[in-house]
Amino acid sequence: MADETEHFMSLGLPDPSDSFDAWSDEGYAVIKQKSDDSRKETGKRLKRTFSQVEACKLIGRSESFLKGKGLNDEVSPSNLPRYTLKRINELRDQTGTRYKRPSNVEPLVLAMAKLKGGVGNSTICVHLAHYFALHGLKVLIADFDLQCSASTIASGMNPDEAYEVEETIYSVLRDDPTRMKNIIKLTYFENVHLAPCNSLMQSLEFELAEQMSKPDAEWPQDENGEPISVYDRALIALDSVKAHYDVILIDCPPALGTITLNALTAADGMINTIRPSPLDRTSFATFNASLASMYEAIPNSLRYYRILINQMVRSRAAEKEDAIVRHIYGNYVVRNNIVDSSEIQGAPEDMSTLYDRMKPVKSVQAYKRALESMDLVFGEIFQDLKTLWAMEAEAYDNG
Ligand SMILES: Nc1ncnc2c1ncn2[C@@H]1O[C@H](COP(=O)(O)OP(=O)(O)O)[C@@H](O)[C@H]1O
Ligand SMILES: [Mg+2]
Repeated sequence: MADETEHFMSLGLPDPSDSFDAWSDEGYAVIKQKSDDSRKETGKRLKRTFSQVEACKLIGRSESFLKGKGLNDEVSPSNLPRYTLKRINELRDQTGTRYKRPSNVEPLVLAMAKLKGGVGNSTICVHLAHYFALHGLKVLIADFDLQCSASTIASGMNPDEAYEVEETIYSVLRDDPTRMKNIIKLTYFENVHLAPCNSLMQSLEFELAEQMSKPDAEWPQDENGEPISVYDRALIALDSVKAHYDVILIDCPPALGTITLNALTAADGMINTIRPSPLDRTSFATFNASLASMYEAIPNSLRYYRILINQMVRSRAAEKEDAIVRHIYGNYVVRNNIVDSSEIQGAPEDMSTLYDRMKPVKSVQAYKRALESMDLVFGEIFQDLKTLWAMEAEAYDNG
């Protein structure tokens, strides 16, 4: 048998193992260029601003509400007033139009969990965070996914270059969950904070297994000096910061190991994303079986659960799949779907979301269609949360 070198040579290519390092550097250089571009001359990525009409709509007032009041933060090159989300939230607070989670109900910790990679989980996670923040909520993205896509999109930076190990969720879950507040970063999007991870996360699963085999005296300890089980790290970490947010979104890895169990132990809500394909549906059935045994093993129950269909296309095959999923999972499936769109696909490349970018990658029509489908899906979820919180607040008031 030919050795590996000869094998590659025979296909006219050199052994790729000599190139992996250089490819990694080149890949990072492209990300760095993108993030430098988005910062332009200011050294800092600018926050999105809104036109007067958009601002009035977000505040929940008629289009003339802001006219002539001079409350804008800046003007556009064509001398039109522009408003930041910070200002819009202040005006919402002043006019009483900002949605407020009832003070006697708990924030929601939503695990975006899946078995299969590439279903759009991380993309949706950051878009949902931006949608919530646009509508007045305070959001934390906790990135538990070793692919770090949510960290990349939400921060607009390469997390391997941007964060030291002790600034990541990896060190919090491995070494000290009580340090969670120290790793949270502001992002370019108002009221969206990020607990980032980077590629070091790849070894966490293995390292937690190793810790488990050691005496619990060697595990990280909580504030009372008690050892924290490897399954409770996220629970302790997120509980310590939860009060600052309305929603915490956990971007879970595509696997059902200790990291996902941590997420499910900490979460009291879950959204599962699937695409309209028989393969996704089959893997989702497997995932359901695993969830069944996981929920037997962990003590918490869910306050909120939804299945979200992503990358819907106009084809008979996709429509058939959509119908099957809705038949099996009934009203747990979000009524609207997120469309398959090159505009959404462009978001990670651009290290932003449709809510941040404001303009199409290629086509205005496609951008509008993608945004509309996201608005419908996320609008349903937001309405669900409002209903849930109202019900919980009422139950609490009634004792
Ligand atoms: N609705 C969509 N339309 C087109 N491309 C999408 C859509 N949602 C996600 N993608 C693309 O699919 C790929 C996988 O998405 P990602 O969010 O990384 O998935 P996951 O987190 O499930 O692995 C990315 O290239 C992303 O841009
Ligand atoms: Mg992902």
